[in-house]
Amino acid sequence: MHKDLEEDAAVAAARVLDTNWTGRYTVPATGLYPHQWSWDSAFIAIGTRHREPTRARAELHTLLDAQWPDGRVPQIVYDVARDDEYAPGADFWRAPTSGLVQPPVHAWAAWLVHCADPAGSAREDFLARVYPRLARWHEYLLGPRAGGVGLPVAKHPWETGTDNSPLWDVALARIPPEARTPIRRPDLRHAGSGERPGSRDYRRYYRLAEAYRDAGCADDVPIGFAMVCPLFTTALAVSELALARMADALSDAGGGAAHEATAARLITAMDEHLWDESLGLYVALDDTTGAQVSRSTVNGLVPLLLARGPAALAAGRAEQLLLTLTGSGFLGGGPFLPSTARDDPAFDPALYWRGPAWFNTSWLLLRAVRALGRVDVASRLLEQFAVARPEGFPEYVDPDTGTGRGTRQFSWTAALTLDALVADEAAVLPDS
Ligand code: SER
Repeated sequence: MHKDLEEDAAVAAARVLDTNWTGRYTVPATGLYPHQWSWDSAFIAIGTRHREPTRARAELHTLLDAQWPDGRVPQIVYDVARDDEYAPGADFWRAPTSGLVQPPVHAWAAWLVHCADPAGSAREDFLARVYPRLARWHEYLLGPRAGGVGLPVAKHPWETGTDNSPLWDVALARIPPEARTPIRRPDLRHAGSGERPGSRDYRRYYRLAEAYRDAGCADDVPIGFAMVCPLFTTALAVSELALARMADALSDAGGGAAHEATAARLITAMDEHLWDESLGLYVALDDTTGAQVSRSTVNGLVPLLLARGPAALAAGRAEQLLLTLTGSGFLGGGPFLPSTARDDPAFDPALYWRGPAWFNTSWLLLRAVRALGRVDVASRLLEQFAVARPEGFPEYVDPDTGTGRGTRQFSWTAALTLDALVADEAAVLPDS
C-alpha cells in the first residue's frame, strides 16, 4: 500500500476509535453495539496500544473489573443508561452484565498491550494486576466449562463470537424456536435484515439464553447446547502461552511451564478431536452428541496461529491449513477471506457469519501467516484492510466485492486496520 494511503487509513481509524471511546472503554459501534463487549475490547486494545497505550490498558481493566466471582469474563458489560438501545439487555439478564462469555483472546491482547509500552506497563503494574484475573478466567473455562474431551464449550452461539456460523446449525435446530421474552430487534435499525441473523434464529437464541439465565448461569445444568469451537480453543491456547510469558516476566516460578503445558494439552486435544481430514481444516465438536460438525468455516483455519512455538499443531497440519486457506473455498476463490467457505451450502456473501469477510478473522490469519514468513498470503489478506477506510470501517465486507456490510465506524475494524498497518511483530507472541 502507498505510504500516504496508509497514513490516511491510520488517521481515519484513530478517529473512529476516539469517537467510540467512552472514557472507560470503547463501544464496538455507537448505534448497533452501545455497551462494552468482551472480545471486541481485546481487539480494540490491540489497535489502541500503538497510539494510546494507557487507554489500551484501561480498556482491559474496565472489562476485567466486571469479572464474575466464578472467574468468567462477561460477553457484555451494560451501560444501563442505554438499556433500551440493544437487546437482550441488563433487564433480560437481571444483572449489570450478560451471563455469557466470548472467545478468550484477552490474555493475548494484554501481552501485546504490555509489549507495546513496557515502561508504562511497569509504571502501572499492569501485568501484576491483570495476570491473576486472566488466570482465573482461564480456570473457569478449563473447569466448569470443560466438555467431555477437556476442551471448553460454548453454551450459546453468542459465546462463539461467530453467532450464526453453520457450525452451530445442527445443535441450534434442537432448540425450540419459542421464547417467553418478547423479542426486540434494535439491531435492524443499524444493519440490513439480510445481513443479520433471522427471526427464527433469534427465537432460539432467546430460548437458550432464558434457559441459561433461569439455571442461574450454572454450568452443570445441561441446556441442550454445548459446542467446542476451533477458534475459541485456539484463542485459549494462544492466551495460555501469553500467560506463560507473563508468568516469566513476573518471576512466577513454575507458572510459565504450567501454562505452556496447558496450551500443549489443548492443542493435542484439538488435533485429536477437531481435525477433519477431508475438509483440510478443524471443525466444531458437538459435546452433547460427541459428533463432529463437518462444515468449512474460517473458525477452522484459525489454529494456523499454533503452527509453531513451544506447543504446536501435529506435523503436516499447518501445511494442510495453508492449502485450504489459499484454496478455492477461501482466498483462492475470491479476493477476501469469507467467514463460511465459498463451497459450503450455507455460503451467503451478505449474511453475518455465513460468508462475509470479517476483519478480526483476517487479522488472526494475517498474524499466523506473517509468523510463518508467508508474505504472499499476508499481502492477500492485507487487501481487505485496504478497503476498510473507503468502506467506512464496516463491520464486515462482501468477500467477493469488498462492499461494506453490517454497521459502519466499527471499532475492531478500525483497531485491527491500525494494527495491520503499523505492527512490525513477525511473531504471534512477541518476546517482550
Ligand atoms: N454478536 C451479537 C449480536 O449480534 C452480540 O454478541 O448482537
